[in-house]
Amino acid sequence: MTAIDEVKSKLDIVEVISQRVPLQRSGNSYKAPCPFHQENTPSFHVFPDRQSWRCFGACATGGDVLSFVMKAEGLEFGEALRQMANQTGVTLPRRGQSPQNETAYKINEDSRSYFQRTLSSAQGASTREYLSERGLDKLAIEAFGIGLSPTDGESLKNHLIREGYTPEELINAGVVRTGDDGVSRDLFRGRLMFPIRDPHGNLVGFGARTLDGSEPKYLNSPQGPMFDKSRILYAMDKARTDIRKDGAVIVEGYMDAIAAHQAGFKNVIAQMGTALTEFQVEEIRRLTGKITMALDQDAAGQNATLRSLDVVLQNFRTKTVNNQRTDGSTRLVDTDPRIIVMPPGQDPDEVIHKSPSTWTQLVETAIPAITFRINAITGNGDTVSPDGKARCVAEAAPFIHLLSGGILQANAIELLADNLSVPIDTVKASLSRPSVNRRSRRPEQPRSAVSTASPFVKLDHDPMEEYCLQLILSYPELREQAGGLRPEFFTRHENRELFTRWLDVASELNKDNILTQIKRNGDDEISNHLDLLLEKPMIASDANIRSSEIAKITSRLEERNLKAQKSEEVKMFTDSPPDVEDDENEHVLKINERIKNNEGLRRGQTKIISG
Ligand code: UTP
Ligand code: MN
Repeated sequence: MTAIDEVKSKLDIVEVISQRVPLQRSGNSYKAPCPFHQENTPSFHVFPDRQSWRCFGACATGGDVLSFVMKAEGLEFGEALRQMANQTGVTLPRRGQSPQNETAYKINEDSRSYFQRTLSSAQGASTREYLSERGLDKLAIEAFGIGLSPTDGESLKNHLIREGYTPEELINAGVVRTGDDGVSRDLFRGRLMFPIRDPHGNLVGFGARTLDGSEPKYLNSPQGPMFDKSRILYAMDKARTDIRKDGAVIVEGYMDAIAAHQAGFKNVIAQMGTALTEFQVEEIRRLTGKITMALDQDAAGQNATLRSLDVVLQNFRTKTVNNQRTDGSTRLVDTDPRIIVMPPGQDPDEVIHKSPSTWTQLVETAIPAITFRINAITGNGDTVSPDGKARCVAEAAPFIHLLSGGILQANAIELLADNLSVPIDTVKASLSRPSVNRRSRRPEQPRSAVSTASPFVKLDHDPMEEYCLQLILSYPELREQAGGLRPEFFTRHENRELFTRWLDVASELNKDNILTQIKRNGDDEISNHLDLLLEKPMIASDANIRSSEIAKITSRLEERNLKAQKSEEVKMFTDSPPDVEDDENEHVLKINERIKNNEGLRRGQTKIISG
């Protein structure tokens, strides 16, 4: 039993949730108004036998006790696990990285001040000129701790050794690297240095820009447990407060973020050259319901950018945001992610320096992300043939369903219809299927393994999910075929987390790189789980077999996910007292319809419109 299982086995989901949400018994399950969005009829359900929860309303999400705690408290998986472990008295394996990190932070701080001194010295004259040409003022340079690394390749190392650090510590911190010749040298030489801090202000690494055109343009600290590009948002430590007040604006580069802050736009943060990850979006979501992304016009249609956008669309929906009301209470905020497509050939850095008011205007007139996404789908797809149109609708459907009603959704459907030159009603019809009147007959009991499991008897692992993970983790070339997999197909939290991390690793083809990036926390629970999976023997040997296996398993997991949703729905039916109020019945019918639509779309994707 892993520590995760042990913690979960000691918790009762009903007890945990009822500490935060007023649950009402309803047959074998419990219900309440969903704590994660605003509603009057209770669509939030807790199922004790499966130890799971689900919102059938606007959120349309669910999970286990840990995912509830994460969402309710705005915690990361590891934090939620630790909190619950403390409550249940389970000792987690030590992460062991903290003392080492402390030393690395200190080394980075010492390096930073060394780089700053170098910039102020005679050596830094031309770099200071460069900075002033780029419009950076002294205050911004100071506030962001910008510096210059010496060119000789050893003066930082010598300085730090004199300060009392060991060579190993310097290598661990990432400022010194041992070359192929066995000699260790400063990693950063003759570059403009941008210190990078985590949200708590710890100095976790550097971005180092070339000053002479050498490649790479930016050399960053080595990717590792401490410096992880898929988690860090540049300038978050400075922007937090203003993000809470004004929403978050995401730009692409260090220089853009610094220019923004210098001009007083202090709610701006930067991605670090990788697609946005769920982790980053979650971090922003904890602060605000408002997110605006500035996209470089050249990059706007590209896959990496669309991936970022999809992560935002899928994760940035109606949610409880602690909006710092003076009375400390929580407010519900509707989220509506927006996109700024930058004028051709310009980036925020230039726009802001030239005209701050133009920037303000760009931010204020940003378009809804869904509009942008639909335009990207129809812009890249075949909008002429009936099949092509149907494919566009199928591709847009998940995003449109995310909007769950309202003006935004109506607009999105209208836009899609317009782009495809198809009547709105046709698009609507293909997005939804005629509902069956469920009042007249009892739904059949589904036969899925998940729903028939007897109460409290739970396997402490899930072979199908594990096999799927084994495959994709061991054979990176399966990524394409595994495109249909979704996080919610994984019911076990550790599997879902592992899968999400795997998704976040930009389409990297080297297996070892993938694994190191996934193990970003070194020895955390997820990394242990990963090791366990990789040690297990696997049968599928030949490449063809593997690719048919992954296709099969994807559809089985999808099927299972659908059935699980249905079985919870069935429960709602059977558990509801016969004299339920009418609007509640309406509500259940709506859920029904949605689940059916979902299935319809998945099954008959190419047939939607052509009929
Ligand atoms: P940009 O090339 O737009 O950088 O890359 P920039 O910050 O605007 O720099 P200037 O204005 O040309 O001086 C955007 C971001 O992508 C990451 C960095 O985080 C950069 O800020 N990046 C870019 C890298 O990590 N490595 C690279 O080689 C290039
Ligand atoms: Mn730039």
